[in-house]
Amino acid sequence: MARKLFVVDDDLLFAKLLAANLRNEGSLAIELFPSAQAMLERRTEEPPDAVITDLMMPDIDGIELTRQLRASDPTLPIFVLTASTEIGSAIAALKAGATDYLTKPVNVDELMTQLRRAIEERPMREEAATLERTRKAKFSAGAILGDEPAIEEVREFVRRVASIPNSTVLLLGESGTGKNLVARTLHYTSAQAKARFVEINCSALPTHLLEAELFGYQRGAFTDARESKRGLIEVANGGTLFLDEIGELSPELQAKLLNVLESRRFRRVGGTEEIEVNLRLIAATNRDLEAHVRSGKFRQDLYYRICVVTCTLPPLREVASAIPVLADHFRELFNRQFKKNVKRIDAVVIEQLTAWRWPGNVRELRNVIERALIFADGEALLPEHLPPLTAVEAAPSNGHHSTNGYAIPTGLSLADVEKEYIRHTLAHYDGDIQRSAESLGISRKSLWERRKKHGLL
Ligand SMILES: Nc1ncnc2c1ncn2[C@@H]1O[C@H](COP(=O)(O)OP(=O)(O)OP(=O)(O)O)[C@@H](O)[C@H]1O
Ligand SMILES: [Mg+2]
Repeated sequence: MARKLFVVDDDLLFAKLLAANLRNEGSLAIELFPSAQAMLERRTEEPPDAVITDLMMPDIDGIELTRQLRASDPTLPIFVLTASTEIGSAIAALKAGATDYLTKPVNVDELMTQLRRAIEERPMREEAATLERTRKAKFSAGAILGDEPAIEEVREFVRRVASIPNSTVLLLGESGTGKNLVARTLHYTSAQAKARFVEINCSALPTHLLEAELFGYQRGAFTDARESKRGLIEVANGGTLFLDEIGELSPELQAKLLNVLESRRFRRVGGTEEIEVNLRLIAATNRDLEAHVRSGKFRQDLYYRICVVTCTLPPLREVASAIPVLADHFRELFNRQFKKNVKRIDAVVIEQLTAWRWPGNVRELRNVIERALIFADGEALLPEHLPPLTAVEAAPSNGHHSTNGYAIPTGLSLADVEKEYIRHTLAHYDGDIQRSAESLGISRKSLWERRKKHGLL
């Protein structure tokens, strides 16, 4: 079927010449329009596959037309024609969303090639646009669920702070209350979303390794430093550095971090050159940082630097009316993941979930629903599918080795426990193979083999 090309130019003679040339080249159905308005009207009857528009036109000009078309169609190929003296406007057209600009006099061969390619690649771009949309939906403040006022405050915090570039943020709250979720959401809803979000757990490495990891090093800085290496601060430049478990940072690194925040510069280990940094630092902890300051474990000046913009996430037991919504969200999530058909959660189950005090907070709720979904076989999630809600106290919360309030029920075979625990660990680290393997104390290869054995691939 012939592809439909709309050409918009108040200089109809030029448009006709262009059209005649393009027709010689092959299978395009071309329609000419003397004004943007005329084209926009026609478009409601029959949408084009591509548009070529002049830049300077009375009433709606090429830039405005591009903007209007782009607003409703993120993948339509739009080419803007411009005299070579109007490069400034050509750039404005690109910013408005034009696919490309062409300078007059037009090289017809070149234009044809571009048109063909843009039309052919459109389905691919459509796919990418859909992905982008779902990524955005996933990372809107709306990803933080629950209609309790205390949770609405968290969403409002994210919305407000995301728009302030480079502001340092401190996230407080018990284990499993959503600090990682909030950190990611902040990054991916900010204008810096395209730059990197880099996450590191300060309790995961001994000081000297963490220092090298954060600051990078110059070749020869220490015996093993055969090559220079960029640190995470450099990698996150322009984006976000998320320092989880900031309370575990050693005094030495607290001093270095304070220095980075104050001077917005740093040196690699063994390096002489000062490197400028421009990033948002998000720090998180489930500890009482103020108590750490009082006991001298955490520097007061660093604390004051990072505590200006603080958000404290509520423990789940204090926002219990959010439990049904969250439970339902996790039901849908694991329903899809396990390809089950569990359509609702029984009222008695909701009652039991709401009465529990959730020492492991939202993460514990997620784990409980995940477990229940494994055992559910009908359309409803029933009380007998729930694992026993036993009082496993919240993790001793030295982060890395926390148990997150996860209780392994008795009555499972050893193989089932292994399978369960691997699944649980993968979920805890959001599918991060490296971290899961480390936490389980096995190699990535061994983890892969066990997942294969248990049908977890
Ligand atoms: N309000 C919420 N809406 C939807 N999902 C949530 C919410 N809060 C937490 N979660 C989910 O709960 C799980 C635990 O959250 P997260 O890992 O962010 O907690 P955390 O505070 O960083 O815990 P820790 O202190 O142990 O690191 C994640 O799967 C997260 O997506
Ligand atoms: Mg966390």
